[in-house]
Amino acid sequence: MTSQPHPPITTPPAPELFTWEFATDPYPAYAWLREHAPVHRTRLPSGVEAWLVTRYADAKQALADQRLSKNPAHHDEPEHAKGKTGIPGERKAELMTHLLNIDPPDHTRLRRLVSKAFTPRRVAEFAPRVQELTDDLIDRFAGEGEADLIHDFAFPLPIYAICDLLGVPREDQDDFRDWAGMMIRHGGGPRGGVARSVKKMRGYLLDLIHRKRADLPERPEPGEDLISGLIRASDHGEHLTENEAAAMAFILLFAGFETTVNLIGNGTYALLTHPEERDRLQRSLAKGERTLLETGVEELLRYDGPVELATWRFATEPLTLGGQDIAPGDPVLVVLAAADRDPARFAGPDTLDLSRRDNQHLGYGHGIHYCLGAPLARLEGQTALATLLTRLPDLRLGADPADLRWRGGLIMRGLRTLPVEFTA
Ligand code: HEM
Repeated sequence: MTSQPHPPITTPPAPELFTWEFATDPYPAYAWLREHAPVHRTRLPSGVEAWLVTRYADAKQALADQRLSKNPAHHDEPEHAKGKTGIPGERKAELMTHLLNIDPPDHTRLRRLVSKAFTPRRVAEFAPRVQELTDDLIDRFAGEGEADLIHDFAFPLPIYAICDLLGVPREDQDDFRDWAGMMIRHGGGPRGGVARSVKKMRGYLLDLIHRKRADLPERPEPGEDLISGLIRASDHGEHLTENEAAAMAFILLFAGFETTVNLIGNGTYALLTHPEERDRLQRSLAKGERTLLETGVEELLRYDGPVELATWRFATEPLTLGGQDIAPGDPVLVVLAAADRDPARFAGPDTLDLSRRDNQHLGYGHGIHYCLGAPLARLEGQTALATLLTRLPDLRLGADPADLRWRGGLIMRGLRTLPVEFTA
């Protein structure tokens, strides 16, 4: 008897990254990378070469590794990549000295000061206002029978919420809405408009901080806003300077805005395309329960979270990650979306299970840069989804999923529009 030769072991070809198909559904490409090239060097659309880290264990290690700096000064930048790793338009300016661009000991000092002002208690006290904002926005389109949930709901909610929390007067909040709109639409695109918007925002925040400092009474007043809290925060006699307070207010806006838009957008989309899970949540809300809502929002973050890749890190010394040598100056991007679908960490990672336990996802990062705004994001996400499903019980997609367009930026993952229909 002749034995059949084994078929040759073949590896499917490496997927193309950063294409239109990839922006629509990056998960098959991430599965390939996790399996065949878990720490993978690639050229990004901007021309910068970076390592992509896709396995959960490596991702968690990288996020906590102090040899990976957040300071772009450590980037060994080739000429063609200069200026491509910062917030567009504001690379050298004062606003760049913020939590996501600095390392200890500066990071420790600033994070401690902001944590004194931006407390979980302040966020909890803000819950009624978030509910009010949510209801007001839904009131505006509830009679129409259709809406674009990104434009009409997911986009304005976080910007008004963070402006209110910071203490930006209501009459100025639409300016912020416009500046933020420019940043979200053109984040990776034409620089001019974005740079102008960032500049206007910075000028406005500096001016507001200046006025608030002048008006600040000796003692804290109940319900005082976050900017006043930032000005007042002190630690062993240390305070934030006006520039640091402006940079802090800016990063709270910047880090807390598009992320939350996408949590609401991606989360609603996932619910509308998983009718059994959505029914389960709706029944549980109707009974006045909160547990499934709380585990559900965490699962939506894991399943299709707003932050596809954590923000930049740069090696400060030679290191090995997932068996791969990384040279000093090399940029490293931790792919949270890939790590959170790693079958080595999550059972049935491609299944949406709103009651998933043991769900230590990396959607808010890990280590010293763990998301400072997580309590606010949870509050907004839970309020938004619960209120939508309760007030518009027959909410459904108003477009074929194949026709929806994803924004395809590098760091964030989110829909451009989310057309929905419901009984008015
Ligand atoms: C950091 C995710 C909402 C403020 C981070 C990081 C992630 C993240 C992954 C770490 C980035 C890294 O290590 O490179 C999210 C998600 C959100 C959200 C998924 C919404 C669902 C918010 C909100 C705020 C906020 C609402 C504030 C209003 C911040 C700040 C940092 C941060 C200040 C930097 C912390 C530090 O470097 O110490 N966030 N975020 N985030 N986030 Fe969030």
